[in-house]
Order: sequence, then C-alpha cells, then structure tokens
Amino acid sequence: MSAPMPSKLAYVPFVSVANMMRLINHIGLTEMLTGIATYIEDDFRRWELFDKAPRVASHSDVGVIELMPTSDGQVYGFKYVNGHPQNTVEGLQTVTAFGLLANVQTGYPVLLSEMTLLTALRTAATSALVAKYLALAGADTMALIGNGAQSEFQATAFRAICGITKLRLYDIDPAATQKVLRNLSDQGFELTACSSAQEAIEGAQIITTCTADKQYATILTDNMVGAGVHINAIGGDCPGKTELHKDILSRADVFVEYPPQTRIEGEIQQMPADFRVTEMWEVITGKAKGRRDERQITLFDGVGFATEDFSALRYLRDQLETTGLYDALDMIADPDDPRDLFGMVRRAGGESM
Ligand SMILES: NC(=O)c1ccc[n+]([C@@H]2O[C@H](COP(=O)([O-])OP(=O)(O)OC[C@H]3O[C@@H](n4cnc5c(N)ncnc54)[C@H](O)[C@@H]3O)[C@@H](O)[C@H]2O)c1
Repeated sequence: MSAPMPSKLAYVPFVSVANMMRLINHIGLTEMLTGIATYIEDDFRRWELFDKAPRVASHSDVGVIELMPTSDGQVYGFKYVNGHPQNTVEGLQTVTAFGLLANVQTGYPVLLSEMTLLTALRTAATSALVAKYLALAGADTMALIGNGAQSEFQATAFRAICGITKLRLYDIDPAATQKVLRNLSDQGFELTACSSAQEAIEGAQIITTCTADKQYATILTDNMVGAGVHINAIGGDCPGKTELHKDILSRADVFVEYPPQTRIEGEIQQMPADFRVTEMWEVITGKAKGRRDERQITLFDGVGFATEDFSALRYLRDQLETTGLYDALDMIADPDDPRDLFGMVRRAGGESM
C-alpha cells in the first residue's frame, strides 16, 4: 500500500528568502514599505483588540533570542528573532528572524515566513510611519547613524513616507557607509558621507540611530540635539543596550510602542519607572497629541513590537494569492481520522511499524 497523501490542511504557505526577494522585486521596495506601513497603521488603530506582552527574551553574553507573540482574536502570530551585535565580525547577520500566523479558531498555522528581510521592512515602515506623525512638516534631510543591514530600508521608507531626499551618513566602520553609498547611489538621494555623528546631524531635521553594540553607547549627546528635531532611535532594543545620553530623554517628548516592553528594552530603561511617555497608538488614533510646535524635540524610542510583525505578516499573506510566491510546506500532521495519528505513521511505513 502506498503512503497516504497529506491532507490539504497539512500544507502551510511558506515564504522562503528566495521568494521574499522575488516578492520585494516584483512589488517594488517603496510600494511594499508603504503597503506594510498602512497595515501597521491600521493595526495601531485596532490596538485595544490585541493581546499584548513584552517579548520573551533569552539573553546570553553575546546577544539575545526573542519570541514575539500577539493575537487580534481571529489570527495569532509570533516572530522568532535574535540580536547578536558581534555576528557581523564572523560574517553573520546581527538580526535574523522567521514568523508565523495561525487561525485562532483551529490553531492551524496559515503562514510561515522568513522574517529577516521582513523585519527590516517592518522596522523601516514603522519608523517612517511614526515620523509622519512626529517630524517637522517639510523635513527633507535625515542623518543616518549606523549604516548596517537596516539602514537602506530606513532611508527608502523615509523617502517614500516622509519625503526625505538628503541623507547624511555615518558609521564607525567607513566600509559600511561605502556600502550604503553604493546601494543608494541610483535611488535619487543626495548622499553625504560624514566622518562623525556630529557632522552627520548638521542640518538634519530627522536623526535615525540604528547602530548595534551590546552596551550603553552614546551615539548622541544632549548638545547635539537642536530644537525641532525628530529622533528615530531604533538600535537600543535590549537591557543594557542603548544609544542616547539620558539628558536627551529629559529634554525630548518620548513616544513608544508598548511601554511595558520599552521600559525594559528601550532608551527609557535609563529613566525612572514612571518617566512620562506617549504611546504611538494614541497619537495615531488622535487620543494624544504628536508634535505640538516647531521647537519640540520628539523622540521615537523604537524597540519593535509584536503587532508590527503581525501587520507585516498580514500584508504578506494578502500578497500570496495574486503573486503565487510561496511554497506549500507539508508541516501539519493531519490524519483523515483526527484521532489516528499512530495509524497514519503505520500506513506511511507500509504497516511495518
Ligand atoms: N527597533 C527595532 O524594531 C529594530 C529592528 C531591527 C533591528 N534593530 C536594531 O537596530 C540595530 C541595527 O541593526 P542592523 O541589522 O542594521 O545591524 P548591523 O550590525 O548590520 O549594523 C549596525 C551598524 O552600526 C555600526 N555601529 C556600531 N557602533 C556604532 C557607533 N558607535 N557609531 C556609529 N555606528 C556604529 C556598525 O559598524 C554597523 O555597521 C541593531 O542594534 C538591531 O538590534 C532594531
């Protein structure tokens, strides 16, 4: 007797790295970033529906591995993600990820995807979406400090969503800045390579810090931040891993995703537990004010929250039918008789078990 075919429900759509790259090239990076940003914005509007908890982190001397679950009651999702700042020295990525969506009614997975690329897209989409609400209107210049894996995605999202056309680049490793210059040379930006963070921030209305270092780093000091600036700080996202001098936090209005997680992982881990922050979902739904005036310093203390990954996976799922850019993964054991898991294995081995 031949082995039974897996049931239809056994197959879970799987987006591999190869298919994710095809999808980005097929849809276009700008289009995909703005699409994901729309889904993230929609889910911020539905904030109160979601299960929310700080992500579950497993720390080691060299990095962190985290699980990020959430659900809107209909669909459940989680992401596995790591952060290992020393990895690039070994030729490895600092951040890698994959994630899943499942049907809450049955618990069956409905999508499995690579998320190393998708994380870069959702992080950039979130940053630019937040800046749309907080940065000075008409901002056209951004300092991009930390020119690693996230940086070009950040630049592209800020061009698409906020109108940034001038980039001032700085990295402690000039090779990283050269890589960004190469990658973005034909993307319509005015690019300036800078030899210090201080030089990079000159004339910038938006400052993005996306450096990776497992320590309390000081990428920006208080005297570097002038009136009206919006800071998009995304590299500080772990206990003991920050980018800004704490004096900046006292002077700025700080906006966060989910305070219980950000107080553990974000820049505000340097501040008292009752330090005042505004939640982005409140700004997006109009419950709280974003930018009040032209002199206010706004700071997005972005650590990356589970709902943003959920939104990105939701966006991805909606592209599958029209593009066909996925494989069907035989992932769920689903016997014809749901209680006969044992028999299914026996039949697969020709009853030899
Ligand atoms: N907030 C979020 O949602 C989110 C999402 C993804 C990644 N991240 C974080 O963003 C950071 C960047 O990620 P990546 O994948 O681009 O990492 P990466 O290792 O590819 O790049 C980091 C870059 O920062 C540079 N750098 C380190 N210290 C510096 C300093 N003092 N001044 C200037 N440059 C410095 C490094 O030379 C490197 O080029 C990481 O800390 C990562 O954990 C945050």
